[in-house]
Amino acid sequence: MSKKLKIEYAERIKQLPPYLFAAIDAKKAEVQAQGVDVIDLGVGDPDMPTPAHIIQSLKLAADKSENHQYPSYVGMPSFRQAAADWFSRRFGVTFDPAAEVVSLIGSKEGIAHMPLAFVDPGDYVLVPDPGYPVYAIATSFAGGVPYMMPLKAENGFLPDLDAIPEAVAQKSKLMFINYPNNPTGAVADYDFFVKVVEFAARYNIIVCHDAAYTEMAYDGYKPLSFLEVPGAREVGIEFHSLSKTYNMTGWRIGFAIGNPKIVAGLGKVKTNIDSGAFQAIQEAAITALAADQQCVKEMCDIYRKRRDLMVSFLTRAGFTLASPKATFYLWINNPEGMTSAEVSAMFLEKAGVVVTPGNGFGDAGEGYFRISLTVPEERLNEAGERIVKVLGSK
Ligand SMILES: Cc1ncc(COP(=O)(O)O)c(C=O)c1O
Repeated sequence: MSKKLKIEYAERIKQLPPYLFAAIDAKKAEVQAQGVDVIDLGVGDPDMPTPAHIIQSLKLAADKSENHQYPSYVGMPSFRQAAADWFSRRFGVTFDPAAEVVSLIGSKEGIAHMPLAFVDPGDYVLVPDPGYPVYAIATSFAGGVPYMMPLKAENGFLPDLDAIPEAVAQKSKLMFINYPNNPTGAVADYDFFVKVVEFAARYNIIVCHDAAYTEMAYDGYKPLSFLEVPGAREVGIEFHSLSKTYNMTGWRIGFAIGNPKIVAGLGKVKTNIDSGAFQAIQEAAITALAADQQCVKEMCDIYRKRRDLMVSFLTRAGFTLASPKATFYLWINNPEGMTSAEVSAMFLEKAGVVVTPGNGFGDAGEGYFRISLTVPEERLNEAGERIVKVLGSK
């Protein structure tokens, strides 16, 4: 008889907080089992299909046998060229596609691998709180210490760099920032990026700007790239994703762009862990980036309408919130006296609506909840009606 194996997880796994959306999904399933038609405003996954011209491009590329072999680790030259060309058209800054662009299997992959390239055990990494959970977890996986930079409403949800203790700044290797921001919907202006560059240069910190939402913007607002600021290319890189821009979350394609030494460090990790993105997907991504961007404009029009609809329901229900200029998230103060967990439990149990508790994005997210606008207008309308019913029309 074989001896039963004692399976023991590594400390880095044991120490992980429970995955936010898994816990929410379990609760959602419980409520659904009671026969409730649950509306999920939790996860930020676009509900609309990838535009037809991009799908068509994948179909043609999938037929080519040369696309069936291992791709290049760092991306096809034509994909990196298309990414650099898009970047230059969009932000007016040029990069060398051969040395300053690397393909990613979704921007999450690149973000998660950054600390492995640059962080040694005990090094600090500056991480926004609330923020996309991957920054802190990837830091811990590399043995680094995440130092949380609170994003406060009074600072426009920008980190206060002057509040970072000198000793922490001295020990920090990386800084993650993300604008337009998930989960707060905040945007960053030029002056903020200038301050980030100065700070990074002073303390020798690599800046990782997560730019996943630069194309989801409204009311004529055009988000900036961090790399538009003089000196940025000396201190950092930017992560771009096709996921939200072209409804391609399932395709897993993005790129990092910026300082060649930093791009090369990330590339080194990738070479040893993954084998690049499927070439047919890279070809479709070239189509997405090079084609007319009308489909992006149409998507933004849809999200803007949804945003206005939900903001009007929430205002009726007594909430005070400004319409975000970008992202498809609403970041809302809890009703007086309630915790984020209580608010999300209340909406799920009483309205059959899933919202994300703000503390799931970090301790500084307590006091808020997040609504994602990635459901069709009729469902959003229904969710809004239910929210107003639970809280009463004010
Ligand atoms: C802030 C932020 N960054 C990065 C990502 C990852 O996007 P992807 O890996 O699909 O490119 C997400 C996805 O939700 C996100 O919200």
